[in-house]
Amino acid sequence: MCALHGGSGRLKTDVLIVGAGAAGLMCAITAARRGRRVLVVDHANRVGKKILMSGGGRCNFTNTGTSPANYLSANPHFAKSALARYTPADFVALVEKHGIAYHEKELGQLFCDDSSKQIVRLLLDECAAAGVRVETSCGVERVRRTDEGFAVLTARGEVHAESLVVATGGLSIPSMGASGFGYELARQFGHAVLPVRAALVPLTLSGKHQEHYADLAGVALPLAGTRVGKRAFRAGLLFTHRGLSGPSILQISSYWQPGDDLRLDLAPDVGLGDWLVQQRGARPAAELKNVLADALPKRLAQRLCELVFESRPMRQYRDADLREIGRQLHDWPITASGTEGYRTAEVTLGGVDTDGLSSSTMQSRLVPGLYFIGEVVDVTGWLGGYNFQWAWASGHAAGEVA
Ligand code: FDA
Repeated sequence: MCALHGGSGRLKTDVLIVGAGAAGLMCAITAARRGRRVLVVDHANRVGKKILMSGGGRCNFTNTGTSPANYLSANPHFAKSALARYTPADFVALVEKHGIAYHEKELGQLFCDDSSKQIVRLLLDECAAAGVRVETSCGVERVRRTDEGFAVLTARGEVHAESLVVATGGLSIPSMGASGFGYELARQFGHAVLPVRAALVPLTLSGKHQEHYADLAGVALPLAGTRVGKRAFRAGLLFTHRGLSGPSILQISSYWQPGDDLRLDLAPDVGLGDWLVQQRGARPAAELKNVLADALPKRLAQRLCELVFESRPMRQYRDADLREIGRQLHDWPITASGTEGYRTAEVTLGGVDTDGLSSSTMQSRLVPGLYFIGEVVDVTGWLGGYNFQWAWASGHAAGEVA
């Protein structure tokens, strides 16, 4: 592995970016276009690993409906400025400039038609055109403040930089290069780091709760909803061997904490109470479980009847009974015990406290020249392209001034 400075003493650069993911590369492009000398280092052996694995290999690179309301943060206003100054349309223009074909899947989610490799190629081509130097397999060991900026000891020599941008992401998927380095660095320079936890992650069940549902693994409800308190999503769910997954579950996982009351709407597109009353008129001899199997997956309908509702011929139920069954199916309590954790989580909630950062530049309020961008910051998007849009927008905001 050759030294970064090629044996000619220490390396000097204007901007050193740690982390060659979505945020770091966007920041690099933006800063280098302003004429800044930019070096990006990453300890992984290739750049943008999360981009490559995202969106099932097709990268859901933005969401055209992005608004600050799609993000969780201790300060819900923090993301506004950056998101307003680098919009989904700005990134789409870049995608079109590179001739990448894309499509809208649903709800404003834009995906590559072909492969997420095209987004990484786009970023690297833009880096090359702007003169950015990108070095992989180059971790950072130590950072200290100097009169001119920062001295950063990397695995391949010391780098001196005026500006230091931390774009090291969160803790999700450690096997893809995730590390807590950004949080440690933030603390080293006096920044508060808010508690972190896995988000956009499947939920697990345990004990009798798991026993009730485990053999339903593979049963999917494409429209099912989830709710914790007043926060609700309607995007579908899937029973797994260990618990629950699917878009509705991933979304609500960002709002759920152990002990919270989690509710499922098993058939949000049908008014089940009225429907059951109507079905009783149409087929009075049919058993409840068989009627329910027309509104829910059959195995689930049977299991719910075994667990809670006694399955009798429909004629034996009163209106009030059927309406109560309908009400329960729209607000089904389920006791989750935990999450699948960082191993499978798409993002990390919490992180570098935005109180210590400028919302327009991402610059530290405590240490001039130090910036935090992307997932390492306490800004976490919903499922659906919002997290990449935050990475592009926050990277761009820092790149304009770093
Ligand atoms: P990111 O994690 O991308 O990059 C950080 C970089 O820093 C990595 O390259 C890492 O190797 C490097 N690094 C870490 N520590 C270091 C150290 N100590 N020294 C040097 N380098 C270091 N979002 C979305 O909007 N649409 C989608 O389709 C998906 N899909 C998706 C699927 C899966 C499986 C996951 C895990 C995540 C998603 N996401 C997503 C979320 C999205 O990938 C995520 O929010 C962004 O990649 C965050 O970008 P960052 O640049 O902040 O961090």
